[in-house]
Amino acid sequence: MAFETLIVEVTDHICLIRLNRPEALNALNAQLLGELGQALQDAEDNDKIRCIVLTGSEKAFAAGADISEMSDKSFVEVFSSDLFGEDAEKILRIRKPIIGAVAGYALGGGCELAMMCDFIIAADSAKFGQPEINLGVVAGLGGTQRLTRFVGKSKSMDMHLTGRFMDAEEAERAGLVSRVVPAKKLIEEAMSAAGKISRKSALSVMAVKEAVNRSYEVPLREGLLFERRLFHALFATEDQKEGMGAFLEKREAQFRDK
Ligand code: HXC
Repeated sequence: MAFETLIVEVTDHICLIRLNRPEALNALNAQLLGELGQALQDAEDNDKIRCIVLTGSEKAFAAGADISEMSDKSFVEVFSSDLFGEDAEKILRIRKPIIGAVAGYALGGGCELAMMCDFIIAADSAKFGQPEINLGVVAGLGGTQRLTRFVGKSKSMDMHLTGRFMDAEEAERAGLVSRVVPAKKLIEEAMSAAGKISRKSALSVMAVKEAVNRSYEVPLREGLLFERRLFHALFATEDQKEGMGAFLEKREAQFRDK
């Protein structure tokens, strides 16, 4: 399917989605979020795709929600349409792994979109921020909740209250991103990570995603039990026999998602 605000390429079981509104630094408007939801669902429904990489441009992953589109909206409009609620839900429903590959600005809704990915690989040019305070609002796509869980209360408060930006090095130190790579190598590194994930069993990949995400939702004891039951359940799969058998036979496992 062709999109106007995205460029979507599928190679070797990986779907690379590039946000593409260069005139507005990939600001998230209704069209882009609608198309992104559709592109992610297409990738989810396509059996050939095993991992998704979400990226922007060299200058911006996304500079936030589109300010020109929302500036004149009333409370009644944003509340009754639950502005951005369904968009966030769509992304969170995707069970295949999504890697955020962030270069340049990831601000406001852009930072929040990156945090909704399963993990973030940052270019050394990346700048993260929640500058909504400068617009007389607060984050609306999870920033106050997710950034706090990633980097702790003090740094999250600092970011949200001052609106300052965090560079890639600080973001890695604080635990917001999993690794920092030279900007020129960002896509290569993200595709290489996606390639590695694509060669695992899709069943254990889905189980990892569910279990790690569960750690944000439930008390530790419940999370530990959930993990242990998933671990037990995977013994019902052929891939567990293949994975452990391959190790013992000193060969590479050939997973079949069964
Ligand atoms: C609409 C935007 C935009 C945005 C940039 N542009 N960010 N348009 N919404 N969020 C547009 C500019 O208006 C400009 O268009 C063009 O992109 C280039 O931007 P410049 O400002 O000229 O570039 P630069 O000087 O390099 O500054 C880059 C920047 C700055 C620091 C990223 O653009 C900026 O501060 N943007 C806003 C960041 C922000 O406040 N984000 C939070 C949004 S609220 P023209 O036509 O003039 O060339 C939010 C709420 C989330 O995200 C709630 C749920 C989603």
